[in-house]
Amino acid sequence: MLSSPRHGCKYPACHLRHGAGWPGLGRPPYDAPGSPNEGVLVKVSDAERNIEALLSEERVFEPPEDFRARAIVRDDSIYERADADHEAYWAEQAERLSWFSRWDTVMEWTPPWVKWFAGGTLNASYNCLDRHVEAGGGDKVAFHWEGEPGEERTITYADLLQEVCRFANGLRSIGVQKGDRVAIYLGMIPELPVAMLACARIGAAHSVVFGGFSAESLRDRINDADAKVLITADGGYRRGQVVPLKQNADESLTECPSIEHVVTVRRTGGDHPFTPGRDVWYHELVADQPAVCEPEHMEAEDLLYLLYTSGTTGKPKGIAHTTGGYLTQVAATHRLIFDIHDDDVYWCAADIGWVTGHSYIVYGPLANHTTGIIYEGAPDWPDKDRLWQIAEKYRATILYTAPTAIRAFMRWGTEYPAKHDLSSLRLLGSVGEPINPEAWIWYWKYIGGERCPVVDTWWQTETGAILITPLPGITALKPGSATLPFPGILADVLDEQGHSVGLGGGGYLVLKRPWPSIARTIWGDPDRYVQTYFGKFGTDTYVAGDGAKRDEDAYYWLLGRIDDVMNVAGHRLSTYEIESALVDNQKVAEAAVVSRPDDLVGEAIVAFVTLKSGFEGTEGAATELRDHVATKIGKIARPHGIIFTNDLPKTRSGKIMRRLLRDVARGRPLGDVTTLANAEVVEQIHTMVESGAGSGEE
Ligand code: PRX
Repeated sequence: MLSSPRHGCKYPACHLRHGAGWPGLGRPPYDAPGSPNEGVLVKVSDAERNIEALLSEERVFEPPEDFRARAIVRDDSIYERADADHEAYWAEQAERLSWFSRWDTVMEWTPPWVKWFAGGTLNASYNCLDRHVEAGGGDKVAFHWEGEPGEERTITYADLLQEVCRFANGLRSIGVQKGDRVAIYLGMIPELPVAMLACARIGAAHSVVFGGFSAESLRDRINDADAKVLITADGGYRRGQVVPLKQNADESLTECPSIEHVVTVRRTGGDHPFTPGRDVWYHELVADQPAVCEPEHMEAEDLLYLLYTSGTTGKPKGIAHTTGGYLTQVAATHRLIFDIHDDDVYWCAADIGWVTGHSYIVYGPLANHTTGIIYEGAPDWPDKDRLWQIAEKYRATILYTAPTAIRAFMRWGTEYPAKHDLSSLRLLGSVGEPINPEAWIWYWKYIGGERCPVVDTWWQTETGAILITPLPGITALKPGSATLPFPGILADVLDEQGHSVGLGGGGYLVLKRPWPSIARTIWGDPDRYVQTYFGKFGTDTYVAGDGAKRDEDAYYWLLGRIDDVMNVAGHRLSTYEIESALVDNQKVAEAAVVSRPDDLVGEAIVAFVTLKSGFEGTEGAATELRDHVATKIGKIARPHGIIFTNDLPKTRSGKIMRRLLRDVARGRPLGDVTTLANAEVVEQIHTMVESGAGSGEE
């Protein structure tokens, strides 16, 4: 545990490790102008090519006493147990599930291939539903669902079990069998988790395609998975508009020979073509089905689902997750990281179309018999307080969302959360990108009322479950750091040559041994799996593709994708740290940093900056921001160009897409924009840069 001197800050939960002061919340200490370190780059890594860690964030938040007193994990012994014998520890976690037959071995590892709980059989849907109902917990609410237009549905565990059984029988009646793949293209409606669990029940692997994807993306994913059935809806609501899901699906299906049937949920009404023999309505399919359906006994290593992830370039990868290890780890991480108690109302505000929704809306929470919230629509519909209105209405106790959402809330202003009573919240979570310290503080202060720990959880589609994270009852938090590997996880930071960089150094984040929920392969392309994740440092070392540094307490700070690292005057700098320094300025809501070639320094830094409402992107503001970065992390990181924009290009899951901004900054033709959520933004930025508007150059 950290032991740090308190320094008398007015925020009781906060203390500095080194006793320095700063002018107020939102201004962590830095090397001030005139100080001996002004503008001096402190090189923390010894190998020339390592990523240099420049940002120094010194605030530390201990777990509040009342939180710790009630937490599931109250001391460090879990780390010791896991270190002493990680297989015994994971077996202990697996024992919390119901198995039809027990495993023979916990882990069989022939690098890079691994099997967990081989010989054991179980069913994910049984674990999420039946066992709770059998234990008398059928009346507990599984989901409070709220549609964007305002409808509500309260679904208990008993309701969910019946609906899943009916649909599972329905799927069997149209020919779906154990081992088949089923594509699901739905918005955030209850039928989405129902469809996933129905597939799991009968041993078919689901492949959920995010409802915001185009017909083309859907087609490619269906074909890659060779899916037999597609489950979709007539439409979905988003910002008051109808997203024409069935129409998109019909477009894809002209080129999807494997699809035998399409099941359509009626959500929005309205007409669309119906192909007799192929198309069937969901409500008609389930109408006469029995509400009982025997779950298949699945091997622990049987495929549970595929989930496609695009990465930044190239053909989407069908990430394959299996049953026993995946369910063990999502259940364990969900319970211990979110400190799940029986009375919690837990809200993961991600979309089920991403892995976050798979693991932390559906499988983890349901395996733990948790009450959850699902909201169908946009956070700013009909107004920018929609999430806070929902959190207040259902008395949410835990909220898990992404930095991109938090930065949007910051941009919109504090008046929206302030309109609502958020006092039921006791824990906050973040996932998806590095969270800039100022966004963390904002979240902690304005959403968490300065009383809720914020768990910054690092993981990936490929890892299946959270790997680096605080445990909120015991971990002292540092804004911007995902803190420590979850018990049982062996991580490290390596230099280019594969040596551990040691504390204080930056490099490649790696995992040194398998964990139960690791993806087992890329569907249909095992070579790509080996090459992508185990190609750099040998088959026993999983390379995450992210840069990271560890500080003097061995805390992990994620620095973004390795591909985004810049080389400025011979120094490898992470975009994250410069962006965090920009967001530290009170005018800035969001920033994306890229580089462009420069004769003098190799690569010159260009920052795209979105200001909070009420501030203007003047030449003076650009100079102020440049100076701010120089003061906060050193002159080397001072952006050469600042470009003010209203928005930044994002992937559909909300990650900033720096690759396109790099094209803009380098005056290159724009690359592939099809994976963007807001393609028009890049075009606007492009035009603006070409005309010289909105930018400040040094
Ligand atoms: O770069 C890391 C970032 O998101 C990547 C994984 O993205 P995806 O597969 O879409 O899964 C997102 C949900 C788990 C990582 O390689 N990332 C995710 N969480 C964090 C993060 N970066 C920093 N801090 C995090 N907490």
